Amino acid sequence: MTRKPWLLFALLLIMSYYRACFSIAGDTLSPGHSLSESDTVVSQGSKFELGFFKPGTSLKIYLGIWYKMFHEKIVWVANRENPLSHPSSSRLYLSENGNLFLFEGSSKIPVWSTNLTFPQSNITEAVLRDDGNFVLRDRSNTSTIFWESFDHPTDTWLPGAKLGIDKVTGKPQQFIPWKNSEDPSPGVFSFGLDPNGSNQHFLEWNRSQIYWSSGLWNATSLSSLSAGSIILNLSFVSSKNESESYFTYSLHNPSNLARFRIDQTGQIRALVWLPGVSVWDTIWSAPTNLSDVYALCGAFGVVQYPENFSNPCECLKGFEPFSMNYTRLNDWSGGCVRKFRLQCENNTHANVKKDWFMKISNMRLPVYSKEYLALNASRCELACMENCFCAAYAYNRSGCMIWEGAILNLLQLPYGGEIGQDIYLRLAADEYPESNTKGKKWKVWVAVLIPATGLILCLSICFSCKGKLKFICKCKCSNCIWKSL
Ligand SMILES: *[C@@H]1O[C@H](CO)[C@@H](O)[C@H](O)[C@H]1NC(C)=O
Ligand SMILES: *[C@@H]1O[C@H](CO)[C@@H](O)[C@H](O)[C@H]1NC(C)=O
Ligand SMILES: *[C@@H]1O[C@H](CO)[C@@H](O)[C@H](O)[C@H]1NC(C)=O
Ligand SMILES: *[C@@H]1O[C@H](CO)[C@@H](O)[C@H](O)[C@H]1NC(C)=O
Ligand SMILES: *[C@@H]1O[C@H](CO)[C@@H](O)[C@H](O)[C@H]1NC(C)=O
Ligand SMILES: *[C@@H]1O[C@H](CO)[C@@H](O)[C@H](O)[C@H]1NC(C)=O
Ligand SMILES: *[C@@H]1O[C@H](CO)[C@@H](O)[C@H](O)[C@H]1NC(C)=O
Ligand SMILES: *[C@@H]1O[C@H](CO)[C@@H](O)[C@H](O)[C@H]1NC(C)=O
Ligand SMILES: *[C@@H]1O[C@H](CO)[C@@H](O)[C@H](O)[C@H]1NC(C)=O
Ligand SMILES: *[C@@H]1O[C@H](CO)[C@@H](O)[C@H](O)[C@H]1NC(C)=O
Ligand SMILES: *[C@@H]1O[C@H](CO)[C@@H](O)[C@H](O)[C@H]1NC(C)=O
Ligand SMILES: *[C@@H]1O[C@H](CO)[C@@H](O)[C@H](O)[C@H]1NC(C)=O
Repeated sequence: MTRKPWLLFALLLIMSYYRACFSIAGDTLSPGHSLSESDTVVSQGSKFELGFFKPGTSLKIYLGIWYKMFHEKIVWVANRENPLSHPSSSRLYLSENGNLFLFEGSSKIPVWSTNLTFPQSNITEAVLRDDGNFVLRDRSNTSTIFWESFDHPTDTWLPGAKLGIDKVTGKPQQFIPWKNSEDPSPGVFSFGLDPNGSNQHFLEWNRSQIYWSSGLWNATSLSSLSAGSIILNLSFVSSKNESESYFTYSLHNPSNLARFRIDQTGQIRALVWLPGVSVWDTIWSAPTNLSDVYALCGAFGVVQYPENFSNPCECLKGFEPFSMNYTRLNDWSGGCVRKFRLQCENNTHANVKKDWFMKISNMRLPVYSKEYLALNASRCELACMENCFCAAYAYNRSGCMIWEGAILNLLQLPYGGEIGQDIYLRLAADEYPESNTKGKKWKVWVAVLIPATGLILCLSICFSCKGKLKFICKCKCSNCIWKSL
């Protein structure tokens, strides 16, 4: 036991030596040089580190940037859609023609590259700066920047980076969360500037459905970020030139560590490192409520109520997650699928069973319904029943609504808040509720009947053998039984 601290110390020494051995000298990659899988580049102030990593249990390899202090906090990924798989032969290469290339094995085709054209060779160098920006710059004039990782964001917006327009496509740059905790490829949500040019930013689902907007910039601030402005100094920079309008931010106290990040839950958060308690604290997030994120839980999924940030989604009754990733990796984009096939999909004559509708109360109804002319609720039900694409219907004062295909963004409302409505969900006959409730009722009867009959029996035995019953507690049934025998 006493030897343990020494062992640990020795191990730490070996480990630091090991790392020192394999991280390349300094923050710069020069032309003709490459970075192998075991190497890293460390920024001058040791704040950020660039190198190869494997997320979670995945065997895939990505080139990324992370905080040197927190290896798991990845702020940028180069090849988020094109992972490498051979550690020993993966390398980042700065070619003499000036470009960065990510190669695997002996392949001449890069997995990823900066793809620029330069008039001469050997004029660039690649540097990881202490603000987390990986830049390709002119060796002879380091203020000339040809390419920077800040212009190609992943999911993290660091202080000093721009939230603006992509110089190549002319469209807003987008911050996009990882698909799941082990897959950096782009998820379904995104965060970026208004494509129409106004000075506000949006959160979108499927690159089209806006579910949150920051509100317009009013020359000094955004009202939606007032809570964060004690620590963050957000500003909107705009010139007559459209392509030069962007948001950026700095920290009132430059020694703080802070970042904006769009999560897999579709929320944008401002996180600040609190060294005293060693946690990344969320000082601001939008939308505040998970239920305001559009279609968070995918097709036929609902946000749990009360909200559970570590496990927010569940499938509707009769449905199960499309893949294990739903709960294992918090990847809800695949949504839920039916446990049993609908009867209407089975046209055989032998099929006599019918689909049925389950009533779900107090829901916020999904958008994109089809209006249907029906005189009453049963006509509305019939209309849905006869259309095998119809997954649910609702009938209220405004009439009959039906939903075809996958149902997205169905929300269970808390009781006592906003007034919800009833929706009727189509389920297969095999999903019939009777079997379940029957089982439950039977159990309830057993639980009540057995003790009740026992008590009655005992009392009657007591009563008959002693003749006088003063109080149940005083009556020793075991004695009674013996005597009565
Ligand atoms: C490089 O850019 C050219 C056009 O500028 C394009 O045709 C080519 O596909 C790009 N290559 C890569 C690897 O992105
Ligand atoms: C570029 O630099 C490398 C060494 O860093 C050198 O071997 C090579 O000849 C140079 N190429 C040109 C075209 O200057
Ligand atoms: C270096 O680059 C900057 C920005 O591109 C430019 O303004 C400056 O004149 C250049 N300096 C020299 C010495 O070429
Ligand atoms: C589940 O996640 C893993 C890791 O990202 C991925 O390889 C796999 O394709 C996913 N499965 C489905 C069904 O989406
Ligand atoms: C952008 O402008 C188009 C055309 O004016 C309009 O249809 C669209 O709704 C606008 N989008 C936003 C997000 O304001
Ligand atoms: C997402 O958008 C694409 C087109 O941009 C569309 O084809 C696709 O159906 C949409 N996905 C869903 C689930 O609606
Ligand atoms: C902008 O909004 C902030 C707070 O939301 C307010 O204090 C300020 O007066 C507003 N400025 C202008 C110019 O409207
Ligand atoms: C916030 O940033 C802007 C632009 O970078 C700067 O002009 C301003 O002085 C900063 N405000 C504070 C309070 O630091
Ligand atoms: C806007 O600025 C970019 C470079 O920052 C330039 O290439 C472009 O010509 C400018 N456009 C206008 C309309 O001034
Ligand atoms: C979040 O949900 C709570 C409880 O349902 C509600 O009181 C609150 O107003 C919601 N917040 C927002 C910003 O919608
Ligand atoms: C959230 O879900 C996790 C995993 O299912 C569970 O362990 C935890 O107790 C839940 N938290 C709340 C507040 O319900
Ligand atoms: C169709 O229904 C019949 C009778 O219920 C059943 O035996 C058969 O397996 C079903 N076919 C399919 C493809 O589900």
